[in-house]
This record gives sequence, structure tokens and C-alpha cells, in this order.
Amino acid sequence: MSKVLVVVYSYTSTARRAAQLLSQQQGWELAEIEEARPRSGVLGILRCILDSIFRRCPEIRYDGPLPRKFDAVVLVSPIWAGRLAGPMRTFVTHRRDHLPEVAVVSVMGGRGAPNAVAEIGRIIGRAPFLSAAFTAREVDDGSFAGRLRAFGSAVAGVKDSSAVVRPVALSPQVA
Ligand SMILES: Cc1cc2nc3c(=O)[nH]c(=O)nc-3n(C[C@H](O)[C@H](O)[C@H](O)COP(=O)(O)O)c2cc1C
Repeated sequence: MSKVLVVVYSYTSTARRAAQLLSQQQGWELAEIEEARPRSGVLGILRCILDSIFRRCPEIRYDGPLPRKFDAVVLVSPIWAGRLAGPMRTFVTHRRDHLPEVAVVSVMGGRGAPNAVAEIGRIIGRAPFLSAAFTAREVDDGSFAGRLRAFGSAVAGVKDSSAVVRPVALSPQVA
């Protein structure tokens, strides 16, 4: 995959830092999903949890490039209440018929990434071809950088979509 777009949603900036590093490491374009109604405080956190429990799709803004102009898109998102964060659910749902090959990076406290990958697969009707998961602690202390580079190289190394073998998960430390 030579043309890859990184699309991130981040609430408290951990996923954003992971996406920025991936973008820098591989020289890939980066775009961000923003919420139409930003969250804050306890009510904001409660809304995150309710979005996950009821699999809601909160309203978002996305001003980035069209994903279908790329060979692949890497979706970078936090885990909320064991599931995909709501704003990324909205993005994937709105664009499900216009996404190229999809890879997934989850950031989390420690559990829930496989659920997010499975949900994205259900929405788009095919499994993401590669996924990786990192804990917020790994992102904070920088120890994730090597595995993130390996993940990016694996995405870049896929020659074309017909060569995609799915699904593969690169998350040995948090599986
Ligand atoms: C409302 C809420 C629910 C969360 N639920 C989970 C969870 O079920 N499993 C988990 O491993 N981490 C959970 N986390 C932790 C986040 O996934 C983690 O801190 C992540 O790095 C946040 O990414 P961000 O800083 O880009 O928003 C939760 C965080 C929030 C705010």
C-alpha cells in the first residue's frame, strides 16, 4: 500500500499522539474526526459510556481528504466501555461504502480492542486486514514506538488489496 491515510478520533489526546507518530514514521497523511458537540467533565464521560452501550453514532465533523482516494486507511481510536469510541463508529458508518482497505489501531486502558475491530468489520462487511492495540501507558512512556513502526511497515508492505490476508492482529503485549 503506497498511499495510506491515517484517520484519528481522540478524546484525551492519546490516540492523536499515536496517529501523529504513525503518520511521521511512514510519511502518511493524517486527518482528524471532531465532534459536533464536544464532551467535557463527568457528563462527557457518561455520554462516552452511553454511546458505547447503545452503539450510538454521535454527530461528527470531518474535513480531511476522501478515504477512497487512498489505497488504505488506518483508523486510530480509543476504546470506550469495551467497544469502539462513538465518533469513530459514526465515521465508519457514514463512509462504509466508500472506504478502501481498512487497518485499525486501538488505544485503551487494557481491554476491548478485539471488539472494536470486530465492530468495524461488521459495519463495512469485511474484516480489517491488520490491527494493533496499545495501552495508554505504552503511548505515554513511548515504549509503543517500535511496534507502531512494525505495524506501519506491515501495512505499507501489503502489495495490493488482492494480496490482503485477513485478519491479522499485531498486539502481543495486550492481546
Ligand atoms: C468513557 C471511557 C471509557 C473507557 N473504557 C475503556 C475500556 O472499556 N477498556 C479500556 O481498555 N480502556 C477504556 N478507556 C480508556 C481509554 O481507552 C484510553 O485512556 C485511551 O488511551 C484514551 O484515548 P484518547 O486519549 O485518545 O481519548 C476508557 C476511557 C473513557 C474516557
